[in-house]
Amino acid sequence: MKTVLSGIQPSGKLTIGNYIGAIKNYVALQEDYNCFFMGVDLHAVTVPQDPAALREQTEMIVALYVAAGIDPNKAAIFMQSHVKEHAELGWLMTTLTYMGELERMTQFKDKAAGKDSVGAGLFVYPSLMAADILLYNADLVPVGEDQKQHLELTRDLAQRFNQRYGQTFMVPDPYIPQVGARIMSLDDASKKMSKSNPNPGSYIALLDTPDEIRKKLSRAVTDSGREVRFDPAEKPEVSNLMSIYTQCSGLTLKDVEARYESQGYGAFKKDLADVVVAALAPMQERYKAIRESGEIPAILRSGAEKASAKAAPMVNAVKEKMGFLLP
Ligand code: AQP
Repeated sequence: MKTVLSGIQPSGKLTIGNYIGAIKNYVALQEDYNCFFMGVDLHAVTVPQDPAALREQTEMIVALYVAAGIDPNKAAIFMQSHVKEHAELGWLMTTLTYMGELERMTQFKDKAAGKDSVGAGLFVYPSLMAADILLYNADLVPVGEDQKQHLELTRDLAQRFNQRYGQTFMVPDPYIPQVGARIMSLDDASKKMSKSNPNPGSYIALLDTPDEIRKKLSRAVTDSGREVRFDPAEKPEVSNLMSIYTQCSGLTLKDVEARYESQGYGAFKKDLADVVVAALAPMQERYKAIRESGEIPAILRSGAEKASAKAAPMVNAVKEKMGFLLP
């Protein structure tokens, strides 16, 4: 059975972008693959995190994974920091990575833009991400399109290691869904929707109340026209809202265009809010039950055990090939 690996940072409240670009695919993949789904806390601390908020966001991720439909008996759900081999292989991968490769990463450039001081962890983040994937010899890595460049670096590092030290790593493939892969900010359709955006009006959080969702969508930026038409180049804001509509309703873009022909943005946005609220309601109910059940620590322990069983032998093999004396 092929292996799938992916993760989300506990760096804020998970958004509908994280759901559409990542978690929705995780749920489908667990049926046919050996899946490892992490909360990537070591990545989250590449920018400063408030400790109490980090703890809360970490529990949120785990409960939302399960509430969205990931079954801890089918997939390993765990925290990156609970499997120490991530940090260890992360360092080894950093030593294999060139500065120029990291300097080209657009996510680094975006996150570092305008900051006086930028942590070195943010710079070497892609090397740690490569280690996350290669530890499990993952065949498929489901990510949003924004992570494609990091995946390409992972492929380069796997090939570099294999050439230098002999065949060790599989070269992983990204798995990027065609529609709705990249959900954009509600206040600026040129930026992707992000959970760490300081303006909560820019994203729909998976745990937002119906009122919050309605307010945010009614305020979402649109162009001055009134035609509900999918055209990302000319009408990026409305096209983004249409992607969310199709992902939450199961309708196609053509269906949505036909439904709102000559109705204007008002009716479309109002219905979109209903569609989003209805799509999130069952997940929010299950989320509450999981948080109250107290089962999160056990889910994480069992997930970390499954993950360590694959990760520990891999790190030993890598160290041996690189010439480390094994203890
Ligand atoms: N807007 C998005 N549309 C589609 N997919 C998205 N993902 C994130 N934002 C969108 C996908 O969600 C997964 C988790 O990403 P991450 O938490 O590791 O970091 P990120 O990509 O940087 O996500 P955020 O929400 O923007 O977090 P912050 O604000 O902390 O940087 C990935 O598979 C990603 O593709």
